[in-house]
Amino acid sequence: MQDTEGLPPTHGPSERRQPKLPYFVLGNHVRNLDFIGRKEAIQTLTEVLVPLEDKKLPEKLRAIAVTGIGSMGKTSLGVEFALRFQDSLDAIFLVQATSEDYLAQGYAGIAFKLGLIGQVDAANKVVGRNVLLQWLNNATKADKFNNEARADASRAKWLLIFDNADKPDVLEDFWPTEGIGYVIVTSRNPNAGRARFYSIQSLKLDPIATEDATKMLFRITDFTETNQSYGEAHKLASRLDGFPLALQQISCYVRRTEMGFAEALSLLNDDATARRLLSSLELLGHTLATV
Ligand SMILES: Nc1ncnc2c1ncn2[C@@H]1O[C@H](COP(=O)(O)OP(=O)(O)OP(=O)(O)O)[C@@H](O)[C@H]1O
Ligand SMILES: [Mg+2]
Repeated sequence: MQDTEGLPPTHGPSERRQPKLPYFVLGNHVRNLDFIGRKEAIQTLTEVLVPLEDKKLPEKLRAIAVTGIGSMGKTSLGVEFALRFQDSLDAIFLVQATSEDYLAQGYAGIAFKLGLIGQVDAANKVVGRNVLLQWLNNATKADKFNNEARADASRAKWLLIFDNADKPDVLEDFWPTEGIGYVIVTSRNPNAGRARFYSIQSLKLDPIATEDATKMLFRITDFTETNQSYGEAHKLASRLDGFPLALQQISCYVRRTEMGFAEALSLLNDDATARRLLSSLELLGHTLATV
């Protein structure tokens, strides 16, 4: 149950502060300039969360869960999607959803930065959570809250990313049930589309397609594409099984050491060397160790 106690009397709905919009804060995530592929995934997000492009508001909350194993690119996808649609939005939020504590901290921080509460109230996680939740549930741009504020023109369009919600039930007290906005939940939990209190569409992220993975190798290494180098990169990309973190790290390694794709592939084909290399790149523990 949502706890409404602890709201400071000065921040009741009729006296809320004016939010500082636009607000585009993605935690410590910045745009990945090497972002590659994921065309279908972006399309699915768009279909589920539309009509973002129409610049209209949906009639209710629209949400989707992006699932997949560790480092498959869930957060990257959410961030890239948010940035691609930034122009249609007034606010983008990303909160760590690993636990209720992180969520409460994230909400309080956002409520403060959005200008809805002062520093003192921001130290109180219950206040922070309630104030932001209240705003999400009726996201006005105006400082005064009245019935007319429900008109599209004065409503703020927001997208919220709950990142790393491996236990989606922890989202319950933070879920903007009444909100008219867009939510992306990223999670390693394949069942993140279903929680105790919601049932939303789910998108499972698979490895990056080999063609896209090959492009990623060229993009990061900045190597010149020839028929020969393309063939070698393609083989390396399939060896890395379209696993984004591996592609990224091996590309950086190749670029740094100036070895070619073929040489990197032969290193990876030798079990002992591969193990050493992957562990030095901190990839052991991920599926790549067994690739
Ligand atoms: N489409 C992509 N293009 C380029 N790089 C990518 C892409 N997807 C992921 N990466 C890179 O792969 C790494 C892992 O991605 P990311 O952190 O998004 O995975 P994740 O699924 O959110 O992982 P976790 O479950 O650990 O949170 C990052 O370094 C990211 O830059
Ligand atoms: Mg992530």
